[in-house]
Amino acid sequence: MLGPKKKVYIKTFGCQMNVADSEQMAQVLADAYAPTDRPEEADLYLINTCAIRRKAESKVRSLLGSLQVLKQRRPHMLLGVGGCVAQQEGERLLAAVPHLDLVFGAHGICRLPEMVRRAAQGRRVVDIELAREFPPQPRRRWAPGAVKALVTIMQGCNNFCSFCVVPYVRGREYSRPPREIVTEVADFLAAGGKEVTLLGQNVNSYGRGLPEPITFTELLRQIDALPGLARLRFATSHPRDLSAELIAAFGELPSLCEHLHLPVQSGADRILQAMNRGYTREDYLQKVAELRRVCPGLSLSTDIIVGFPGETEEDFQGTMDLVRQAAFDQAFSFKYSPRPQTRAALLPERVPAEVQAERLARLQNLLNELTFKAHRRLVGRDHEVLVEGISKRSPEELCGRLRTNQVVNFSGPRELVGQLVMVRIAEAHPHSLKGIQAEGCSITWPLAADPQAPQRRVSC
Ligand code: 5AD
Ligand code: SF4
Repeated sequence: MLGPKKKVYIKTFGCQMNVADSEQMAQVLADAYAPTDRPEEADLYLINTCAIRRKAESKVRSLLGSLQVLKQRRPHMLLGVGGCVAQQEGERLLAAVPHLDLVFGAHGICRLPEMVRRAAQGRRVVDIELAREFPPQPRRRWAPGAVKALVTIMQGCNNFCSFCVVPYVRGREYSRPPREIVTEVADFLAAGGKEVTLLGQNVNSYGRGLPEPITFTELLRQIDALPGLARLRFATSHPRDLSAELIAAFGELPSLCEHLHLPVQSGADRILQAMNRGYTREDYLQKVAELRRVCPGLSLSTDIIVGFPGETEEDFQGTMDLVRQAAFDQAFSFKYSPRPQTRAALLPERVPAEVQAERLARLQNLLNELTFKAHRRLVGRDHEVLVEGISKRSPEELCGRLRTNQVVNFSGPRELVGQLVMVRIAEAHPHSLKGIQAEGCSITWPLAADPQAPQRRVSC
């Protein structure tokens, strides 16, 4: 008889793409390892890493250092590092960390079971080979009750923004065949799933290089047409490649949520040019205006870097001004961090750390104000919420998101998890909303198995 399965603990740093990759790691290992959320009982401990900023990389290094103690207590435990830091460092990481067994890059996930077998035989393994196409994926098994899915549609990036390490650690851009993506989403919907987020470093260029090229918007149309899909999202978009066709889709596709993450990075043309972004602040603002025309309720989020080499106070004021004009609902902002191999790392005129910190603080004050203002605008109105789980703040409350991506907490029975409900927004907080389930209001969603059912029925 087979004994109990061994356990794998996966610690994930970084973006949604890494979260999706970690899910894939768990799946390819599932025959031999059951996932655990308790690192102290792991037989295999994997760290999925991010190299986007130095801070992210330092966190990995300090975690690796602290794991020496666990490894001494559990000598049979295998320790592996995957993702962008693994890709960047390869053999160097193995040499620097004696208690490390396994280093694998972004494209090595499908070979993980074989690598783990070799590591279990006492060999130290490095696999950082980059593929020249989107690697074939095993058919995904969806956990019963899964509400949301992250679906990777492409990997790598060809853009070479001068600050960004991604093209070096995730390789060139390859799109996944559309049929595979559509099947994966259809399987998820058949298992009762409601929301799908399509992932890629630059989804707007999806389809280039495929034997039968297809635009990203066409892929969205195919997915939107699948029965049972309540919400469709995607990340990340490059403003330069945001086509008129894709902008129009926000007014056309019923499942496409009224939210777009559109990283602007800077509001100064001089800096955008030095970043190799391929658009001006005016191009960006024009696309935002067109998006808001097509989809008036659109919520817009962005990424901004402050203190890029050579950024003057005037350039920074350009960013502050653009932020006010675009009226972002949410934003992620960072101090520029020099990355290995990137062109910007060689630029002179580094902005001193204290100037970066001071600009970041001013920017974040403004962004927080805008987010809070956007939250206050929602108060008093009813909104559709997809209930994702129990609130982290209180076990009495449920937690979900609006189509426009804001987090809402409200009281309700646990049976609502996974359901779409109407919620009246009662209070705005800086980072979330508080709501009350709108009385007598429910949303009936047709099961994927019943494609004839009306697409959506709201009864109040
Ligand atoms: N320094 C600071 N922020 C960076 N980002 C990417 N590279 C760097 C860097 N070297 C930010 C960008 C990107 C987000 C994912 O991370 O804003 O959109
Ligand atoms: Fe990095 Fe630019 Fe590619 Fe985004 S588009 S992953 S910022 S190189």
